[in-house]
Amino acid sequence: MHPALNIIIKAARRASQIINRAALDLEHLQITTKRQSDFVTEVDKAAEAAIIDILREAYPEYGILAEESGLTAGQGGGSEYQWIIDPLDGTTNFIHGFPQYAISIALAYRGQVTQAVVYDPVRNEMFTASKGGGAFLNDRRIRVSKCLKLEQALLGTGFPYRMYDHIDAYLRIFKELAQKTAGMRRPGAAALDLAYVACGRFDGFWEFGLSPWDMAGGALLIAEAGGLVSDLAGNETYLQSGNLVAGTPKVFAQLLQVIDSHRTPGLEA
Ligand code: IPD
Ligand code: CA
Ligand code: CA
Repeated sequence: MHPALNIIIKAARRASQIINRAALDLEHLQITTKRQSDFVTEVDKAAEAAIIDILREAYPEYGILAEESGLTAGQGGGSEYQWIIDPLDGTTNFIHGFPQYAISIALAYRGQVTQAVVYDPVRNEMFTASKGGGAFLNDRRIRVSKCLKLEQALLGTGFPYRMYDHIDAYLRIFKELAQKTAGMRRPGAAALDLAYVACGRFDGFWEFGLSPWDMAGGALLIAEAGGLVSDLAGNETYLQSGNLVAGTPKVFAQLLQVIDSHRTPGLEA
């Protein structure tokens, strides 16, 4: 196993202890609102600090992009390596005691993600991937499903709930897919949704307006599990646009076509 992946796993486990302990006492959770429907708890912050401590100790020169603390340069500056961290993906679920949330940590080299972990602390499911080395769930190799047709596909999605700029386009796409797929789910933790595509629980996924820390880890899992991930034009700029489509190769192509047919000029790729 790549040494950096070992460190990421250690950091994710440490964060999960903080999250699991807090989940036992949700009544006393301190919650603040960043903006409409965007909550942060002391748990998000404590988990992120614990993750950064562990990563920093092992690789002090690497830069960091983390949801709660933003961008931090590595010691010495100018490193081509960057950690991309979501300490608690699915905070709204967590606050409500809805057991669907995860820790996502990725390592990028010159903007390309090379190592990834998405960890579900509720089910003790550790999803890992190294570029070129395949994707795993608790040490067992995973692959995307064999689904070939949208009609047979179970899709994951995330609908707009804090920014509504593209809600009409989203709903038009949703309407068509509701009639053309086997079903759609909105579990509420994008990093875990992507991990579910990687291990075949979902056949595809789409969401607009995501942040890099929601996508970086899960996207490598899918690529290493034999799936495809792109922005809304089939290109690789989803980490910049925040708009992402993913799936088994066949489902991905059909999903992209439906989404593209409803794209309005304001909705960038
Ligand atoms: C959110 C979750 C959610 C997605 C949002 C994300 P957070 O992350 O991944 O599923 O719909 O766009 O922001 O805020 O809980 O880390
Ligand atoms: Ca997130
Ligand atoms: Ca988060």
